[in-house]
Amino acid sequence: MLDLQKYGVTMWEDEKILSFRQKLLAWYDENKRDLPWRRSKNPYHIWVSEIMLQQTRVDTVIPYYERFLESFPTVESLANAPEERLLKAWEGLGYYSRVRNMQTAAQQIMNEFNGEFPSTYEGISSLKGIGPYTAGAISSIAFNLAQPAVDGNVMRVLARLFEVNHDIGNPSNRKIFQAMMEILIDPERPGDFNQALMDLGSDIEAPVNPRPEDSPVKDFSAAYQNGTMDRYPIKAPKKKPVPVYLNALVVQNAKGQFLLEKNESEKLLAGFWHFPLIEVDEFSKNEELNLFNQVAEPSIQLGPSPQESFEQDYDLEVEWQDSHFEEVKHIFSHRKWHVRILSGQVHDSKEYCDKEVVWLTPEEFNLYPLAKPQQKIWQAYLKR
Ligand code: ADE
Repeated sequence: MLDLQKYGVTMWEDEKILSFRQKLLAWYDENKRDLPWRRSKNPYHIWVSEIMLQQTRVDTVIPYYERFLESFPTVESLANAPEERLLKAWEGLGYYSRVRNMQTAAQQIMNEFNGEFPSTYEGISSLKGIGPYTAGAISSIAFNLAQPAVDGNVMRVLARLFEVNHDIGNPSNRKIFQAMMEILIDPERPGDFNQALMDLGSDIEAPVNPRPEDSPVKDFSAAYQNGTMDRYPIKAPKKKPVPVYLNALVVQNAKGQFLLEKNESEKLLAGFWHFPLIEVDEFSKNEELNLFNQVAEPSIQLGPSPQESFEQDYDLEVEWQDSHFEEVKHIFSHRKWHVRILSGQVHDSKEYCDKEVVWLTPEEFNLYPLAKPQQKIWQAYLKR
């Protein structure tokens, strides 16, 4: 057991813990949000909801959750789903490794657990893509096991209750909050206890515009009592994502079809279809000159323009259009994409390839998974 005192946290007496549980759960019973996954105790349903809710807001998740369970109603159907249907069901949620890991875990359940969802914390934790938070959430909500589910919301609430002077953004500090929760959690209603803290943390105790005076547990809160709410939680500012500069080539043939390519890399957005992308170090002035068919200064040695690279790589002759599009921006966790659209027309639309490409009409786009940045590119193209 972690020595909390060493981290400057003084745990409450038993009596205070009991009355905290009571207060919090009574509030939850009156105020809990009516969410579709709260109407189920099926561990598969809880799992899907918890994975979707990582990095994505509740309002966004609800329709995805419902559609996903219609498409893949059982662990077995998820285990056997074709990749494209899987990515399509997740399209727009982002962080696609989440759904790939889910499929691997579903296959694990079929092979290693006889198709039965594991019902112990250790069994659940052994599944691909399930870390301590998700294992705690599924264990407590679906199986009533007294396991904490410590996420950012829970850490924020605890940091204020106990004035915890440790950065909640530093993963190595998670153990402090885990140890606090192991003591605080209600052994009779662990799932409700965890979810009550999640609800509190996402509304009354939100990161911005909290309403501490409305908190059902303000009498327990050291930060509230001491007037230090604005100091907690401690959180160091995040590093800025690295900028990446890309040209997206939106090229149409005489039949009104567009060229799309499958991302065969193992990295970001693997398996998705996208408009061909050509990365550059930066959007330089020279490129801008190229864009408008002007001649760059002769003394500057230029590499091939993105348009030239494209024509070579895809073996196509393109009539480039002189259109302006707004720059598309998209933030991944560690990268920020800046995308410029270059558009053109071809007469001979062969499918050259060491790459996997197709020509599709816009109506056919929805047969192929297109990730968020590609959807943004398409919207910007249409807006021109
Ligand atoms: N965020 C993550 N899991 C949640 C849950 N079960 N209920 C509400 N918000 C959540």
